[in-house]
Amino acid sequence: MHKVARKRFNQFMKQRLGHFMVEIDPGPVGPKELILKTAVLGEKSVQEKTNPDYYFMSGYIGMLSWMQILKRYSFNLRTASAIMELGCGSARLIRHLRCIDGIRLVGADVDPDNIAWCQLNVPGIEFNVNDLRPPLLFAEDNSFDLVFAASVFTHIPLETQHVWIEEIYRILRPGGFFLADVLGSYHQRQMLNREDMDCLKKNGQLVLDAGDDRASLSTQLIGSWDVFQTRQEVLRAFGSVFYVHDYLPRGLDLLILQKLSLYGHEGSDKQEQWL
Ligand SMILES: C[S@@+](CC[C@H](N)C(=O)[O-])C[C@H]1O[C@@H](n2cnc3c(N)ncnc32)[C@H](O)[C@@H]1O
Repeated sequence: MHKVARKRFNQFMKQRLGHFMVEIDPGPVGPKELILKTAVLGEKSVQEKTNPDYYFMSGYIGMLSWMQILKRYSFNLRTASAIMELGCGSARLIRHLRCIDGIRLVGADVDPDNIAWCQLNVPGIEFNVNDLRPPLLFAEDNSFDLVFAASVFTHIPLETQHVWIEEIYRILRPGGFFLADVLGSYHQRQMLNREDMDCLKKNGQLVLDAGDDRASLSTQLIGSWDVFQTRQEVLRAFGSVFYVHDYLPRGLDLLILQKLSLYGHEGSDKQEQWL
């Protein structure tokens, strides 16, 4: 199954990159114990998430869909010089961007085990462990064209969310993009009861910690948090720093954000629709 996804991803990247595309070996699948730490909602999904075919298929499809979205905003993969994934886990996603010739790729995660495995098994990417709070010591101001964080703000408690959003703003170049997803109505239906929903509506936010039996299996295993916010709260948090191009309802709701260029007020009138 993942071979079809790989072909579609490669075709898309070839179209975008032309001779700036290089053939790469996708490398090994992340080990089960690391995947369990990163992406498993409950016991039922353990088998699926740790299946190598699913691992690669979801990696190709995930990266393809985010690259297709960026194309709509004229993000130029050929001229981009640096891309970072925050919360890269076992590099399920960012590993596929090694097909972009000459680009600097950086993966960061708070989990030293995932980063140690990536350093040994996924060449061609700089990997760093970061703290639960910024700064990202390896990242200079204005140094990335794109930062993405897949299922990461879903685990960043609200008291540190704002400092992370500001940190990503700091390291992006003016005009750079930030893609991040958050838990939306799909996961609210899956994980929350009526009382939780009332609480979420009332407070704009709800956090399940690792001790809570409704929390995802990964959260319970690593002592993390599952963070729910209303759409209004998400827009307040991200939109007060970034220009919000779109906020797409999906399995995980996706934010397409941009650090405006120094003189650019591109669509600042449109921003009002979100805030
Ligand atoms: C659900 S996993 C997703 C992993 C990867 N992005 C993927 O899609 O395969 C969330 C990851 O975010 C990491 N994480 C959580 N909070 C973080 C933070 N503040 N900074 C960096 N990584 C973080 C976790 O350690 C974990 O690897």
